[in-house]
Amino acid sequence: MSEGLGFQANTPIQKLHFSAFGEFGVEVNMKRDDLIHPFVSGNKWRKLRYNLDACREQGKDGVVTYGGAYSNHLLAVAVACASAGLKSVGLVRGDELSIRSNYVLRLCDEYGMKLHFLDRRVFDATSSLAPLGYESFHFVPMGGANREGVQGCTEILPEDHVFNHIVLAVGTGTTFRGVVESKPAQSMVHGISVVPKTDEYIGKLNSLVNNEDVRLHFPDDAGIGKWNKSHRDLARSFASETGILLDPVYMSPVISQTLELMSMKLIKPTQNVLIIHSGGMTGILSDRWLKAD
Ligand SMILES: Cc1ncc(COP(=O)(O)O)c(C=O)c1O
Repeated sequence: MSEGLGFQANTPIQKLHFSAFGEFGVEVNMKRDDLIHPFVSGNKWRKLRYNLDACREQGKDGVVTYGGAYSNHLLAVAVACASAGLKSVGLVRGDELSIRSNYVLRLCDEYGMKLHFLDRRVFDATSSLAPLGYESFHFVPMGGANREGVQGCTEILPEDHVFNHIVLAVGTGTTFRGVVESKPAQSMVHGISVVPKTDEYIGKLNSLVNNEDVRLHFPDDAGIGKWNKSHRDLARSFASETGILLDPVYMSPVISQTLELMSMKLIKPTQNVLIIHSGGMTGILSDRWLKAD
């Protein structure tokens, strides 16, 4: 059902020529899921496609979801629903915000999403639940973190290539779960978390992680809000040498941690790597990025 909406899910695998990787002699490839769509990019379309199918199958009017002020997910829902002829509603964290606060919210509005701006405490207390008053809408949790989201992410890895290492960003863990569930036995998966290492978070993902072939890494300098100059510089050299943009929150830490894994010899020179580009270009639409050095 979600076919034919203009999202290109059959994305290429591209060999990367980036000087920082050069010295390690490892073959590095990228799954270019950022090419699926400018705003419904990377894991966003993967997490939404079966949610749109569920919405249609249940005869719902559209999708209701939650997100922060710069949420990649909110914008992706707005665009995907508009493409599918469905309504969309977004509940946004921060009652001081409006559609004029930033380009992401403005674009959500442009695509016809109805936005409600919630007090942060109300948002934090209620955002895991389907909102009252929207019973005729299909509820998608924040970040697309539900079973349909995982199902879509089991389709990211190519069926005809096996890589020694697969590296990807981890937020809610939905993408990680889909990739781990669908990975070939010979591949090792490295999840690079941008979420703080709390017991609750580890508990949620623990069943997926074992020391054999699935690992979760917590780089000190990665994280939502930990937006530093070294990640910006790395993203800038990467874009200028490869023609591929990285967002500073998720993808730049993935590249820097891949380098770290190579320098620690966890990824060895004779091995090959697949980095999953999970999209997320809205980070680059923020004022913070615009004004950064
Ligand atoms: C660009 C990007 N990469 C990775 C992630 C993390 O994905 P997940 O929440 O499925 O772990 C997100 C958040 O949704 C994201 O926006």
